[in-house]
Order: sequence, then structure tokens, then C-alpha cells
Amino acid sequence: MRVRWQWVKACGLVLLVAVGAGAQATQSSAPKAAATGRPAATAHTAATASHAAAAHSAATKPVVAATPPMGWNSWNFFAGKVTDKDIRDTADLLVSTGMRDAGYVYVNIDDTWEGERDANGKIQSNSKFPDMKALADYVHSKGLKLGIYSSPGAKTCARYEGSLGHEEQDAATYAEWGIDYLKYDLCSYSGVMRAQFPNDQAAQFKMMRDAYETMHQAILKTGRPMVYSLCQYGWDSVWEWGPQVGANLWRTTGDISANFDRMSLIGRSQAGLEKYAAPGHWNDPDMLEVGNGRLTHDENVTHMTLWAMLAAPLIAGNNLTQMTPDVASILMNKEAIAIDQDALGKQGSRVFADGPVEIWAKPLTGGRKAIAIFNFGETASEIRGGLHLKDAGLAAQVTARDVWAAKDLGKIGDNWKVTVPRHGVVLLVAR
Ligand code: GLA
Repeated sequence: MRVRWQWVKACGLVLLVAVGAGAQATQSSAPKAAATGRPAATAHTAATASHAAAAHSAATKPVVAATPPMGWNSWNFFAGKVTDKDIRDTADLLVSTGMRDAGYVYVNIDDTWEGERDANGKIQSNSKFPDMKALADYVHSKGLKLGIYSSPGAKTCARYEGSLGHEEQDAATYAEWGIDYLKYDLCSYSGVMRAQFPNDQAAQFKMMRDAYETMHQAILKTGRPMVYSLCQYGWDSVWEWGPQVGANLWRTTGDISANFDRMSLIGRSQAGLEKYAAPGHWNDPDMLEVGNGRLTHDENVTHMTLWAMLAAPLIAGNNLTQMTPDVASILMNKEAIAIDQDALGKQGSRVFADGPVEIWAKPLTGGRKAIAIFNFGETASEIRGGLHLKDAGLAAQVTARDVWAAKDLGKIGDNWKVTVPRHGVVLLVAR
């Protein structure tokens, strides 16, 4: 396939744009423009990447992860039990429930697919996944994309085969299978780091960054665009260097679980990270638990809203064969998804907090703002001191719509009163 590169002026920036058959993306002229379509890789190129996304209409295909990736991952529900059949069932259900068309396109196999290596060192899938290439073909035939999982260590977190010493070979194998997304989980590599530099954390962290760069280069070498998802629990302020090792998203915390306290603790702890999110590069507060455990309706709505406000990747983690209409309507709320996926690519920030009541605001295209009024507390509550529109950077009077009530509110001002249920949220889009 021939790709031509062209210098294009857009939004006051000079961009290197791929044109012609096989072109995957728009590259910026900022440092570290890579060869296969991942956007330029430094945090300060965020604006450039966003302009690149806007300008790509001149090219053929979008920036990798121009908006936060959406899909499904096997870990939160199936964990170590996931099989080929679960992935096929999920692919079928993503289509029949409408989730694919709502944007959930990546079907990601997490840990425990890995088998032994053959005599040449090539990774094999285990007996739960008899034919990975056939599975990828099946997933692709549904208009979906397939993700996979590995570790820079010799072993993954579930003690299956990792990629240490086989990075290029593994990336090539993934490309041969037709993989579109790699989650790369530190796991046992932290032991390698500690063994190498027992008393030198800075040197350990340098090894970690290098390990992520090694796989980044291995992916680039395949020539196949893959979303690159870092999972190292937010160590060493990964948001500061993730883009430099090609990350499209990076986990910012330890693991989520299907309970309100853990989910909300993780979500709320994202305050302050907003400046690191941009098209092509997202903070990842972990995969969704909507529909898992005993989360109530309000808790699921709060989870979905918080992740949308954070411009977080929306990677569902529930068992689609048992999805209730209520859970389906939360995961597929078009207006909440549109807030997450807004083309500006801005992560929301906390603008007001009074104990368990918090107001977050997220800039949207067209000069609009999403405003979420959360009540993380145990009893229904009002906001004290009004809607805090000024703190959210809005005028004293706004035209607002209540997203979850699907209701236009007309003009409202700071004196607008609302009671937010326990563990609940009111989500507005205002202009
Ligand atoms: C780690 C990750 C999880 C999951 C498991 C799999 O705990 O943070 O998201 O991938 O490993 O073993």
C-alpha cells in the first residue's frame, strides 16, 4: 500500500498528513511523530493532536483513539474463565443490543488466553482459545475490533506467559492474527525492576518506561495500527510520560471493583489529571463495572456519568448475555456517550466540593459545558450555595438540558434547586 505524506496548514499548525490508500492517520509536525499513524507523542502536543483530528478530513482515516476508546473487556466479569465462546457471544451481543452502533467497537480479551511458546518462541493461545486468527476474523466480520493482553514481564498478573524477551515476536504475532488493541500490564516486570535496582526507584522506573517503549516500537514495526493501553496502576505519574512511549491510554490507579466506594474513590481521585488528556492520549481510571456486582441504578448512572465527565475510555465489563434493559439503557445513553466522546477531547474537572456533593464541569464543542452534580453521600442532598455556574466558567443564566431525565430545562440560573439522590447524580448540558 502506498502512503503519501503532505504538509498541510490547519488551525495555525503545520501538520504532516497521510494521504492515499493505506494511510492510517494524520501526524503532527511536533516531536516524535511516529511512522504508522499514532499521533505525535508528547503531552504538550495535545492541542496539536486535536487539530490533527480536526484536520484529518483531508486525509483518509482518523488518529488512533482520537476520542476515548469504547468497547468491552473480559476481565471485570469473566476474569480467568473467559473463553473463545464468551468472546463470540459478546461480539454477537454487541451487535444485537445496539452497543456496537452506540460506539462500543473493541472486544478485548484480557489475561488468561496465553498458552506456551512453540519451539521458535512463538506465543500460542491456550485451549480456551483454539484459533485466535479465526476468532479475530469472526470479530471483524461483525464490524468490531479485537483486543488482546500481555505483560512486559515473563509472567502476566494471572501467571500466564508474558512478553519479556519476545516483544517483537509477540507484536508480529498479534498483527498476523489481526489484533487492533493491546493492553500491556506491568505485573511481574516490577519484580525484574526491583531485582535489577534493589534500592534505586528512579532506575526501576526508567526500566519500566523503557519496557513500555520497547513494546511501542515493536507495535510500530508491525505497521498495523493498534491502540496501546498501558496498565501499571499510575506509577511514576504515567500521565506525564505515557504519550512519549506511544500510549493511547494509561491506567491511573489500581484495579476497580464492582462496588460504589471503590468506583467513586477512583473516579474522584482523577481531579487534577485533566490537563493530561487529549485526542490520542487518555487517562484511564479502569474499565466500567456498570451492570456488575450489586451496583444500584443510581450507582450505575453515577459511574457512567463520572467516566463520561472524565473523558475516560468506556470499556464495558459486564456479562452481555445477562444485561438488563436498565443497564443497557445506561451504557447506551446517547447523550452521556456524546459527552465522553466529544471531539474537543477535554477531560472534566471538579469545580466545587462540599463534603459528598461535588460539581464537575467538562468543556464541549460549540461552547457548551457538561455539568455533573454528584452526591456521593448516604442521604439525598441539595447543593449548597446554588449551581456554581461561575465556577464552571458559565454565565449567570444558561440554557440547560437534563441528560438522564432527557428533559430540556429552558433557562436556569444559579438559584436552580435540585435534590440529588444518595449515590446519584444530575447531569446537565448547558450553553
Ligand atoms: C491486573 C490488571 C487488571 C487485569 C488483571 C489480569 O490486575 O490491573 O485490569 O488485567 O491484572 O490478571
